[in-house]
Formats: sequence, structure tokens, C-alpha cells
Amino acid sequence: MKKLFIVANWKMNGNKISNEQLVNYINEKVYENPNIEVIICPPFTYLTQILKLKATRIKVGAQNISESQNGAFTGEISGSMLQDMNIDYVIIGHSERRQMYSDTNTIIAQKFELAHQNNLIPILCVGESLNERKTGQTISVVESQIKSVIESTCIELFTKSIIAYEPVWAIGTGETASSEQAEEVHFNIRSILKEYDLNIATSIPILYGGSVNGANSKDLFTMGNINGGLIGGASLNGEEFVKIYQAAERLTNE
Ligand code: PGA
Repeated sequence: MKKLFIVANWKMNGNKISNEQLVNYINEKVYENPNIEVIICPPFTYLTQILKLKATRIKVGAQNISESQNGAFTGEISGSMLQDMNIDYVIIGHSERRQMYSDTNTIIAQKFELAHQNNLIPILCVGESLNERKTGQTISVVESQIKSVIESTCIELFTKSIIAYEPVWAIGTGETASSEQAEEVHFNIRSILKEYDLNIATSIPILYGGSVNGANSKDLFTMGNINGGLIGGASLNGEEFVKIYQAAERLTNE
């Protein structure tokens, strides 16, 4: 049985009251399951709140870290600060950061390395734009995003990492990649990793992200190379998020 990861990326949403309602709801519906890891990634300012509220079977991640270890970087949060808070995961290289905050492949590689140095498991996001897909560049874009991290760090770091394939055109648009389209890219990601390490290529969790919801999650998670989802919009709605979790639960019980 493959392990499935259900990751909530709240982005810059939530407040003290809505967070509490959402986490209480998730706590009630999510059960201990060795084959499912549920991870909530709230904004930095709510990490402490979620750590206190969440059931022990739920993990917490951050949405970003600085590419520097410490120093004069006003407004930044370092990996060691997250480690201090007992955070387990961190999202790195989300397309919103690549597009709006100039997170280049070089910066993303630095963040990836610092996540590891601080015992955080990085969820490395990769994915093509609509134009890149239309012009047949999907695999080459994903390949360069992954190889730039491998080549500026080392393949061994991927033993304890997660990759999320998130086609930019499917994020927040309601348009999901079909399960076949996603599977094809996930298969290719494993092929890229095979050039470096066969074991890592076959075992690394690769999540799909981009308009995942209660209705499409089962088809996506059934695909052989898909190990769960990185969920934005639908993770802000308790019922919808739990439907996604329950789709995973049913698959792990089959
Ligand atoms: P979405 O976002 O589910 O709202 O498309 C996914 C993500 O950006 O991680």
C-alpha cells in the first residue's frame, strides 16, 4: 500500500476564529492511519495556534523559509526558527513565490538545503505555465526545476523530501489536470530522478496540486505515481478537505 499525503496549503487566509473551527472539524474526522499523513500549512503567525489545536496525528508545515540561515533580513523567517517551533514540513518553490516573489531556481535550491539542515522536510513544488504546456515544454520545465536543485545540493537530500507537481494553469483556477495528465508528469519526474538514484526515484512521494477537490481526488490518488495532494482553495473548507482525506482513506482501506 502506498502512503498518501494530504497537505493543506492555506496560503494567506484564515483568522483566529476560523482556524479554530477548521482545525476542530478536521480533528474530529481525521483518524490515525499509518498510510495517510495529513499536514496543515497555515501562515507563519498561526503556526503556534495550529500546533496547540491539532490532534497529534496531524502534522504542521510552513509555507516558506528564508534562503539565509540568519542575519539582517528584515521580515524573513529562517529554517532554524521553524525547527525551534517543532514544525515538520515546509513548502518550497510554490509557483506563487516563483512568480510574485522572485524565488528563482537558485534561491529555491538554497531554501531546500536549509530546510534539510534544520530537520524540516521540504515539499518542493514544480510545474509549468499554460504557455509552457501549450508549447510542449512541460517535461523540460519540470526537469530543469528539479535538476537545478539536485545539482546545487545533492540527490541524497531527496531521500527525505517530497515533490509536488503543480501545473500553474491548474492552481486556483478550478481547472484540474486530468489524472492521466498528472500521472504522465509524475512518471516523468521519477524517470528524471532515476538518472541519479533508482531507489529515491521509486520511493519519493510525489503529490499533485492544482484545484484538487472532493470530487476529483479519488481519480488522482488512484494513479500509480501520485502519492496525495497539495490542496489550496479546498483546504479552507472543512467539509471539502475532509472529503479529500476520506477519498484517501477509502483507497488505503481497499
Ligand atoms: P488550489 O491551490 O488547490 O487552490 O488550486 C493549490 C496550491 O497552490 O498549492
